[in-house]
Order: sequence, then C-alpha cells, then structure tokens
Amino acid sequence: MAILSRFCMLSALAGLASAWLAGDNKEITSKDNKNLFSSVNNKVRGVNLGSQFIFEPWLGESAWSDMGCSGRASEFDCVSSMGQKAANESFAKHWGSWITQDDISEMVSYGLNTIRVPVGYWLREDLVDSSEHFPQGGLEYVQKLCGWASDAGLYIIMDLHGAPEAQTPNNAFTGQNNPNPGFYQEDQYERALKFLEWMAEMIHRQDEFRNVGMLEVLNEPMQDNDKASSMRENYYPKAFERIRAVETKLSVDKKDYLHIQMMDKLWGSGDPTEHLDDQYYAAYDDHRYYKWDKSVETTHDNYISTSCKDKRDSNSPTIVGEWSLAVPKSMDKASDWQPNSSNADFYRKWFAAQVHSYEQGQGWVFWTWKSQLNDYRWSYQDAVKAGVIPKDFNSLEDVCG
Ligand SMILES: *[C@@H]1O[C@H](CO)[C@@H](O)[C@H](O)[C@H]1NC(C)=O
Ligand SMILES: *[C@@H]1O[C@H](CO)[C@@H](O)[C@H](O)[C@H]1NC(C)=O
Repeated sequence: MAILSRFCMLSALAGLASAWLAGDNKEITSKDNKNLFSSVNNKVRGVNLGSQFIFEPWLGESAWSDMGCSGRASEFDCVSSMGQKAANESFAKHWGSWITQDDISEMVSYGLNTIRVPVGYWLREDLVDSSEHFPQGGLEYVQKLCGWASDAGLYIIMDLHGAPEAQTPNNAFTGQNNPNPGFYQEDQYERALKFLEWMAEMIHRQDEFRNVGMLEVLNEPMQDNDKASSMRENYYPKAFERIRAVETKLSVDKKDYLHIQMMDKLWGSGDPTEHLDDQYYAAYDDHRYYKWDKSVETTHDNYISTSCKDKRDSNSPTIVGEWSLAVPKSMDKASDWQPNSSNADFYRKWFAAQVHSYEQGQGWVFWTWKSQLNDYRWSYQDAVKAGVIPKDFNSLEDVCG
C-alpha cells in the first residue's frame, strides 16, 4: 500500500512536469510560427466542436432538418430511416460545412488555443455491426479538420463521445437514442478499446494529428454505481494498457505519449484512478454546468461569487472540458436572465469569473463553438459577437479580485 501510494505520488508529479500538454513539455507552433500557449501560462483555452461529428439536434434544428433528419432523435435514427447511401452524402455535406477552416482561424483570432473533438466509435467503420446505423466516410473530415487545427497551432483533445451501445440513456450525444445503454460489459469495452488502439495509432502516425496530445477514453459515463464501478475496474486500466501497447509497438518516446483522459471524480462516476496502477500522463475532465446545479441560488451576484471560488481540482491535471453560460430552465426566460443585450454585462462578468476559476486548474473548453439556438450562452462564436466574451483576453475583466 505504502509503495503503491508513493508510486502514485511520484507519477502524478512526473505527469505534471512533463505532460504532453501543450507548452508544459512540448511546444507547439502554428505553420507561421505562432505559439498560442506562450502568453497564457500554458493554460488550455478551448472550444468544443459540438454537433460536428456527432450531431445533437437541439443545437442545430435547421441544419438537422436540411440534412433530411427532421424529427429524428439521433444520428442512428436518421441513418436508419434515410438509408446508408443518402446518409453518407447528407452527412458529408454537413461535415464539410458546419465547422470550416474559417472557423478555425476565427478561434485563433480570439486567443483560443485548444479544440475538443467529440467523435463516435463508428468512425472506425469495421466496428459497426449490421444492426447498427451510422454515417460512413467521416474519417477524412476528421483528418482534414485536425490538419487545419494543427497548422493553426491549436492543441487537440480527441474525445470518444459516443461509445458502443451507448454509455448513457436517450441522449443524442452518444449518437443513438438508446433507452438501455449497453456499454458496460466486456464485449462493448472491447469494441471501445479497439477504437482507442486504432485512434492512438493514427494520431502517432499521421501528420494531421500531430497536435493531438490527449485522448479521452469516454465522455460522461453513467453515475449508476454498478455500471460505473465495472467501467473503472475493467475499462479504464485496459484503456491505459492498450494505448500504451500501441505506443510501445510504435517506439513512441515516453514524453510523447498521449495523455489519457477520464472524467474527473467530481462527475460522479467514482474516482477514475481507483484501479489504475499506472497514472503516467493521466488527465481528467470536469464538466461544470450551472444549468444542472440546483444547489446554487440563482442571483447574478451569487453566480459570480460562486464561480469565483469554484474549486474544480479533485483529480489533477483537470481541464473543465465542458461548461457554458446557460442557466436553469426556471430562469431561462426571466427578464434579467435572457440572453439579450440588457443582460450582456452580467454574462460577461460571469464568463470572466468561470474562466478565473477553471484556470486555477489546467484550463477549460467551452461547450460549444457554434449553435443555431440564437442564444449566446451556448455558443462561443455568438457570445463574442454579443460582446459577452472578449475578442482579446487581455480585456477580460478581473471580477474575482
Ligand atoms: C457509404 O460511405 C462509405 C465510406 O465512404 C462507403 O464505403 C460506402 O460504400 C457507402 N455506402 C453506400 C451504400 O453508398
Ligand atoms: C431583454 O429581455 C427583457 C425581458 O424580455 C426585456 O425586458 C428587455 O427589454 C430586453 N432587452 C433588450 C435590449 O431587448
């Protein structure tokens, strides 16, 4: 026990010092030699590419309808009703237009340095069995997008967001609207592990992926105790073993290993480190949505003061990999919470307060870059246009004192 905990401490320290987090150990620069991390203390400042490779209809009803998916709950449902050939074509159009190279340039111009790319296991098409329906041909778009991001000097977190048979019920972010998530068993873990091996090998071999430093092995598992403990015991340690085995096979230098990311303890699916005896280059993901937190009293002042002292560091290093400016449904339409110009000053301060706290850790990734909700609380791009998020981080107000 003593030996084990000493080992864990040492490896945690080693992980922090030489992590393949941009800037900490490996400098990354854009093609034209800009370093997006040098002036920000190596903190991650990023956006999620929501609805790019896993479409969430609520974020873009009109795009979803243009794709011919109107009324369908998820990619799986749309593809099964549309048929493979038409779906391939329709999704290809979407992949090529939702987030483009211009978006990447715009992100960089706002001082962002990171993207998190949610993808589904079906990107590796030989893992999909005949009863499952997903669009095909996505990989070349993932490669292209990561190539632009690498050229622009952005750090990339590749995120297995949709797991085989779904890791959570009835949620389009898994790619399917499955009421009985079947992920938490041996054969589905195995499919996910095969996905991770394939992805790790591509990341190390292909130039487009050179700025991918982190591979998240599962987004938002269930908090159900039996399922979560099965996952911690079986899936997490094997994810480490299998990814490291690929890296050993490819003779990757240890300092260039991928960071392997799991949901943080605060997520509620247990302590991800419980069964890990190797925590070298482990990293953690914390999702912080005030919208779903009923314990925080909804007043402007309280939101800002709570955010200012919000400690999000139960595992380390942690990135707050999803958060937004959305508020509980009961307040959503209230006059002093509406996302209009009258309330922009509050949202501007609340953004700054959240950034303040999340940068006490490794940094943050906003959910999401773009939406069609006409609501700047869910769209980084719209929030910049509304003056809620600064175009230049030097003008971020110090609201926490
Ligand atoms: C769908 O796209 C994939 C990948 O581009 C291709 O291999 C497959 O043949 C397509 N399926 C149909 C039915 O067109
Ligand atoms: C913002 O919304 C509130 C509530 O509907 C309204 O009272 C206020 O006038 C709106 N402000 C602007 C600038 O539209």
